[in-house]
Amino acid sequence: MESESSASTVRDSTVYLTRKFPEPVSRILEPLFEITLNHSDSPVGRDELLSHIERADGLLCTLNDQIDREALDIAQKLKIISTYSVGYDHIDVENATARGIYVTNTPDVLTDATADLTFALMLALSRRIVEGHNLVFNREWDMPWFPSFMLGNDLSKKTLGIVGFGRIGRAVAKRARGFGMKIRYHNSVKVSKAVEVEHDATYSPLETLLMESDFVSIHLPLTDKTRKLISYEMIRLMKQSAYLINTSRGMIVDESGLADALRREEIAGAALDVFITEPLAETSPLLEVNNILLTPHLGSATVGTRYRMGEMAASDIRNVLLGIEPVSLVNSGVRRRPI
Ligand code: DGY
Repeated sequence: MESESSASTVRDSTVYLTRKFPEPVSRILEPLFEITLNHSDSPVGRDELLSHIERADGLLCTLNDQIDREALDIAQKLKIISTYSVGYDHIDVENATARGIYVTNTPDVLTDATADLTFALMLALSRRIVEGHNLVFNREWDMPWFPSFMLGNDLSKKTLGIVGFGRIGRAVAKRARGFGMKIRYHNSVKVSKAVEVEHDATYSPLETLLMESDFVSIHLPLTDKTRKLISYEMIRLMKQSAYLINTSRGMIVDESGLADALRREEIAGAALDVFITEPLAETSPLLEVNNILLTPHLGSATVGTRYRMGEMAASDIRNVLLGIEPVSLVNSGVRRRPI
């Protein structure tokens, strides 16, 4: 679709950036639009966010900015919400669509980084890397090598159950094959035979996957169907020797149920990069158990990935405000507001 906007209309368009973003964002947006931004790494207060949304034509936000009905109700001119994330559970997409507001995200560019972190967590957990580091670093390594010292578990020949077989789930499967793992997957829709063959992956119902896997890794979007999907009852289906890894969204796992299962040694361990509340509250039951590895939402946290996320998120704002279709549209049925 070609732009019908005059140059002055484009310059009159305002884009609000809810954080400091990497360099490509200002390079792409500043020459074209009026930019207002939060110069801090912390989220702005709700009232300030709403007052910017009220006036903006474009919004570049993060997963911590709740773009809900209240925010959309006051958005007079908003034409695009571009989230600097692949997940968009913080945006009321249905409501945005009804109002003709485009919603875009940043898939693909963060797939490898997130799959890499998943593997780093699996290895660190099963080979007790953080525990070993702490032992050496705290000057508590006081015995020379002996055969039963700090034994972990192999990945090779073990079964990896991947829950959610989209881009990131498949990228994890690709890495797992290199480690000689057997791959099971569960997905809302069974993938094509060709994809199964490509990844040497076998479909399992969720319960079967939990019962038969040595490692279970979650790669689901957060939706009404996946919220608390991995409940205590589900975790209890896992083998006592199995590990749970979550790099998707914290709300998918029942955190107190998981803490109970870990405390009772009903599973061998868990590695989590995402939490129901971030940062994790000091009172979280997850901090009371030992067989756990916790990282602060680092899935896409590489310099190159964040740079590409910035390019993608900013380009789609530019596209929509210039009347061009965006590259990564979430709400494909949207009928645009007039520019
Ligand atoms: C996402 O993109 O949804 C991640 O959680 C942060 O990069």
